[in-house]
Amino acid sequence: MKKTLLVALVMALAPAVAFAGAPAPKKGGIEEKGYVWNAQEGEKIEALKLKGDAKRGEEAYEVCGACHLPSGAGRPDGTFPQLAGQHTTVIIKQMADIRSGLRDNPTMYPFAITLVDPQELADAAAYIEKLCVPPDHGKYEGADAALQVNKGKELYEKQCKECHGANGEGNKEKFYPVIAGQHYKYLLRQMTEIRDGHRRNANPDMVKVIKPYTNDQLVAISAYQSSLKMPGSMCKPKAGKKK
Ligand code: HEC
Ligand code: HEC
Repeated sequence: MKKTLLVALVMALAPAVAFAGAPAPKKGGIEEKGYVWNAQEGEKIEALKLKGDAKRGEEAYEVCGACHLPSGAGRPDGTFPQLAGQHTTVIIKQMADIRSGLRDNPTMYPFAITLVDPQELADAAAYIEKLCVPPDHGKYEGADAALQVNKGKELYEKQCKECHGANGEGNKEKFYPVIAGQHYKYLLRQMTEIRDGHRRNANPDMVKVIKPYTNDQLVAISAYQSSLKMPGSMCKPKAGKKK
């Protein structure tokens, strides 16, 4: 419970803490010459070698649930991404990048550093990966949804499927994130940030693909991604609800 209290406190002080708590942006990232995506160094490598304990991870995750929710569902408005079902490798890489200042996330930074060591990082990741993917998440809600999803599907199958998979399942070995069940607005924000060079830890091969996309294409492809479902990983419908 102590950590939950800490979240309430830090949230109340959010602007000041975000300012004082966030690290100075680290040099490097996709725009820098010679940048190596996913360099095999630091606490990331240590955490990846360790066996995560989901039970201990549940405790470490308590502080995270304040924003990402205890279910790992995040928020349909996209402020907080869904984490449930994400590959341990992706969680560990993203956390290490956020902790070292390579991926900017001033809101989360003070909490990201509550995980004390690589073991706790591995534990939290093991817990998150085991959570089922909630079927009810933020989708594209325009009247032209069917049209957008169709347009997005065409683009996705041509340019994204080989990395993120036919059902948005990503690739654990290669650090490609799960995108199935992710909130539309979070997807759109990440796509835009990656295209515009603001997510400095992004994969350069993906940046190349997405650079020429127009805003309209990003809307369509985000609409499609948020329609994807991963067989076997989605949460079962609640008892009493018809299938
Ligand atoms: C104060 C709210 C807050 C708390 C607490 C928080 N996060 Fe986050 N987290 C965020 C926000 C906001 C983002 C998305 C930032 C962006 O848009 O890039 C995020 C993003 C992430 C991502 C990247 C997801 C992806 O798909 O790339 C991971 C992983 C993550 N959080 C894990 C955690 C873990 C583990 C904890 C607990 C130790 C935690 N978060 C606590 C707000 C929070
Ligand atoms: C070469 C493989 C590759 C290709 C092609 C690719 N991606 Fe990615 N994508 C990645 C990797 C790796 C990441 C994580 C980057 C990082 O380290 O932060 C990522 C991140 C993302 C994210 C952010 C996910 C999150 O949880 O924050 C989204 C959304 C995404 N990709 C969608 C797409 C779409 C849509 C396309 C096609 C237009 C595409 N990707 C093409 C490898 C790829």
